[in-house]
Parts: sequence; structure tokens; C-alpha cells
Amino acid sequence: MTTAAPQEPALQASLSIDLKPTAHPLSDTERATRLENPGFGRVFTEHMVTIKWSAGRGWYDAQLTPYASLDIDPANMTLHYAQSIFEGLKAYRRPDGGVATFRPYANAERFQRSARRLAMPELPQDLFVAAVDALIRQDIAWVPGEPEESLYIRPFMFATEVGLGVRPSNEFLFVVIASPAGPYFAGGVKPVSVWLSQEYVRAVPGGTGAAKCAGNYAASLVAQAQAIEQGCDQVVWLDAVERRWIEEMGGMNLYFVYGEGEDARIVTPRLTGSLLPGITRDSLLRLAADRGYAAEEAQISVDDWREGNANGTLTEVFACGTAAVITPVGSVKSSTASWTVGTGEAGPITMELRKALVDIQTGRAEDVHGWTHTIA
Ligand code: PLP
Ligand code: COI
Repeated sequence: MTTAAPQEPALQASLSIDLKPTAHPLSDTERATRLENPGFGRVFTEHMVTIKWSAGRGWYDAQLTPYASLDIDPANMTLHYAQSIFEGLKAYRRPDGGVATFRPYANAERFQRSARRLAMPELPQDLFVAAVDALIRQDIAWVPGEPEESLYIRPFMFATEVGLGVRPSNEFLFVVIASPAGPYFAGGVKPVSVWLSQEYVRAVPGGTGAAKCAGNYAASLVAQAQAIEQGCDQVVWLDAVERRWIEEMGGMNLYFVYGEGEDARIVTPRLTGSLLPGITRDSLLRLAADRGYAAEEAQISVDDWREGNANGTLTEVFACGTAAVITPVGSVKSSTASWTVGTGEAGPITMELRKALVDIQTGRAEDVHGWTHTIA
């Protein structure tokens, strides 16, 4: 991922978005009822943005309309061959009542990379951000303001051509929807237990692991179910070749903290091509360095993890991602061993980095990297 502070391109979407909002908006009382305990991904706002693409016309027909069902032909190519990608980012309510997203151009760039991998058209970054901004501006009253709450934005794109020939679709639909969200894990910042999957793998060298495509998540579900059967909250993926190197966890990247206090060293698995380059992961590499910690990318094996916890050199482990923010890992289980991570509780560096990140995202701390993007 990039190492320099990102420069936002001028917001001049090449295509303007036709605004056709609902004629029957919900009352403030109805909206407030739906915003009570939203959970994650269960409640949706009143609008969506759609943009079409076809091989002949490129991107066209950008619209903001009321949230509604889509009409899908039974021979829609996505249903059969899974040309489908998505992104996830959040809009946060700030102390002054304004709203900002976090690094939306990084999501726009990753969306282009996912599209390339899946033989799909690349949406211009400025159009991606303009579509997200238009939806947030329209549904701004849906951005919650309680601690740990935000508006989760889900841009996605899928094939819309009808036919059963196995080839890239000639038509796609890009859609943005939004969902007011509370904590991803019920119970707040509580350590999760993880299952090391030795039977299943998420991604292989040369595969789609670095892309945010729907199929990766479909392939993960059976291992996640196994984790639950084993009494764990989440699955941790190992590399496909040696089944030895830690890759990532469910829908989150992982961080390992060695040592304590100002001498702590913070390590995350290196991007091998088979894990998702998380934007939270990238942000934390820089935030940890800003705070004076040694922060690096490296290969970490299952043995390193178990021995590090046994001899006390590895003090904390946490997972990070847009939906899950920063979540401590409290214990590990595999088919051959189980152990506790550090004290089994949320560690001080985990919580310090979590606060530093959330304070920037919510406008409570200075944003020296230019990561926040205010919705005008
Ligand atoms: N890994 C996977 C498989 C994910 O789905 C996500 C979530 O988007 C992440 C990691 C974390 O990425 P980010 O920090 O960009 O949300
Ligand atoms: C995210 O953090 O945005 C994710 O995509 C994780 C999960 C909800 C798929």
C-alpha cells in the first residue's frame, strides 16, 4: 500500500449523479426507532446510488434513488460465475455535528484492483467517492452519533448480463448502500477466541485472496462454522502451501505485539498476495510508528505465535478492519493445541492504538495524515 500521505484528487466526477430522492421520507420518529440498537448490517438507509456500465458505453446512468429491490434474471451471470466485488468504509459523526469518511480514496483504489483481478471494469476513483458522498449527503440524518456507532457504507459491483457462457460479462451494475451500525461484535471491545483452520484455506498464491470479491467470503463460511463448532468466535487462516504462516482472520487483518511499553514492537503479516491489504492495517502501521513503536511487516508462523505466548515475548494480539475496528484476540485453538494470548484480556497497546485510530476517524484528534474526508 502507499506510504506517503494520500493526495485527494479534485472531486470532479466525470459523470454527474442524477438525484431522485424519495417523495415519502421517513419521519424523524420512525428513523429514530430504526436507529435503536442497529447491530451490524441489518438496517439500511432510505436511498442508494446506482451506476451502469456496458462494454459499448462505459459508465453511464448514475442515479440516486430510493432504496429498492433489484430485478434479477435467473440467468444473471453473477449468480452462476460470481463476478462480484465489494468495499466497506464508514462515515463518522464528529463532535461539531459534521460527518466524515476515512480514507475513501484507498477504498476506491482497492475497488479498482479487485475489479482488475475479476476481469471487471474499473470505476474511476473520483466517481466512487462522489457516489459514496452523494448517498451520505442524502441520508446524513442516518449517521449515528453514539460511541462505537457509524454509518457503514457498502459499495459493490456485479455482472448484470444474462447468459451462461463462461466469460467476463459485458454489463455491470455498481451500487452503494448504507447501513447504520453499532459494534460488529456483540458485547463491545471484548477479546475474541480464534480457531486456526488447518483443514480449509481462504486463498492460494495466484488466487483472489488480495481482492475483495464475494467468492472469497463464500469459501470462508464452512471454516467459520467449524470455528463456532470448536467454541471459537472467529477463524484464522494459514497459508495454503505450508499451512504454517498466519495470514488473516475472518474479515480482519492481524497484529502481533512483542514486548511492552515504549519498547514494544508491532508486527503484521506481510502482504503475500493471498491476504487482503486492509486499510485499517495500513493506517495502524503508520499510527504505531507515529507513536514511537517499531512497526513492521513480517512472516509469523503458528509456532512463533504459540512459543511467543508461552515464553512471554508476545504480549498482545489484535485483529483490525473497518467493520471490527480493533478487536483483541484472547485465546487460540487448533486441532493440536490451545493457549491464551498474554493475559487473555485486551492489552494496553491494543487499546492505545484503538483509541488513536477512532479519535482520528471521529474527529477527536488531529488528522496529520489527511485521512479524513469531510462530507460537504
Ligand atoms: N481482511 C478481510 C478478509 C476483510 O474482509 C477485511 C475487511 O474489509 C479486512 C481484512 C480489513 O480491511 P479494511 O481494514 O480495509 O476494512
Ligand atoms: C469490512 O470490514 O468492511 C468487511 O468487509 C468485513 C466483513 C463485514 C465482510
